[in-house]
Amino acid sequence: MSNASGIESVAVVGAGLMGSGIAESVAVAGFPVVLRDVDEVSVGRARDRIESSFTRAVAGGKLDAGQAGLARERIELTTDLEAIAGADLVIEAVPENLDLKLEVMRAIDRAAEDDCVIGSNTSSIPIAELAQAVHVPERVLGLHFFAPVPVMRLVEIVVALDTSASTLTRATAFVEELGKSAIETKDRSGFIVNMLLIPYLMAAVRMYAEGFASREDIDAGMKLGCGHPMGPLTLCDFIGLDVVYAISDSLVEEFKAHEYAPPPLLKRMVASGRLGRKSGRGFYEYE
Ligand code: 3HC
Repeated sequence: MSNASGIESVAVVGAGLMGSGIAESVAVAGFPVVLRDVDEVSVGRARDRIESSFTRAVAGGKLDAGQAGLARERIELTTDLEAIAGADLVIEAVPENLDLKLEVMRAIDRAAEDDCVIGSNTSSIPIAELAQAVHVPERVLGLHFFAPVPVMRLVEIVVALDTSASTLTRATAFVEELGKSAIETKDRSGFIVNMLLIPYLMAAVRMYAEGFASREDIDAGMKLGCGHPMGPLTLCDFIGLDVVYAISDSLVEEFKAHEYAPPPLLKRMVASGRLGRKSGRGFYEYE
């Protein structure tokens, strides 16, 4: 093994926005990666998403056409879960649903090698719970990426009760090999970033729901006044209101504190399919 992590090939299970972004970053860093989803439609969407991201990266001068071509060749898109066998690191990135994640962790455990590291990209489910679905929980930890993954440099490494020191060392080295920065956090809801971000986003939703200010002014306030790249309501739309709601709910469940509670408006928006950019409307409307 030539690199510090000892990780030479990667598999990502779940090819949504996060999974395809993770696979793209892994491929750009030079690793072969299997990206798996359940059907051809999901795989096709992931292919298109990755393709348009490469186009953006080339247009922005982040990659040249040759590098993008090589990275593209390193990504194997598949619906076959057996294709993850042989990966030194498997990253779970399926939707934020406990039963689904447990089922996928069990399937990864059956298909993957005994000594591979298993990372979950969950933003709200205890890693300790997911690790119980695997017969060697010492190999499991959280690898929490940020959207858009090819642009955001951070990965939160979530150390669960059973995570071994060697799993942590390998994962930390791998994040560096990806060209990203790792921060280490314990296994509790929100980790570091969402623990700070979600109360802020919920305060913005409450401000809007109460009619205190317009959506544009709330967003302009934080964009122009504090230098954030996006205002909080635009950011909610970007992350997905269902995802923001799920994280908020898990913080309330964990800490029983009102400051994390999703405002009723957020629940109604999710119920009516206003999920943000991905569904065409949220706090704003999208093409
Ligand atoms: N690959 C590589 N680089 C890319 C790229 C790609 N696919 N797409 C864009 N870039 C680069 C651009 O070249 C540009 O680089 P530069 O600043 O050096 O010129 C930079 O990224 C910004 O891109 P654009 O100028 O095209 O786009 P914007 O200026 O509109 O920025 C944004 C878009 C990066 C999304 C910015 O609005 C942003 O940072 N928003 C905040 C995102 C954020 O907060 N994410 C975290 C969400 S929380 C989360 O994910 C956790 C979960 O648990 C909820």
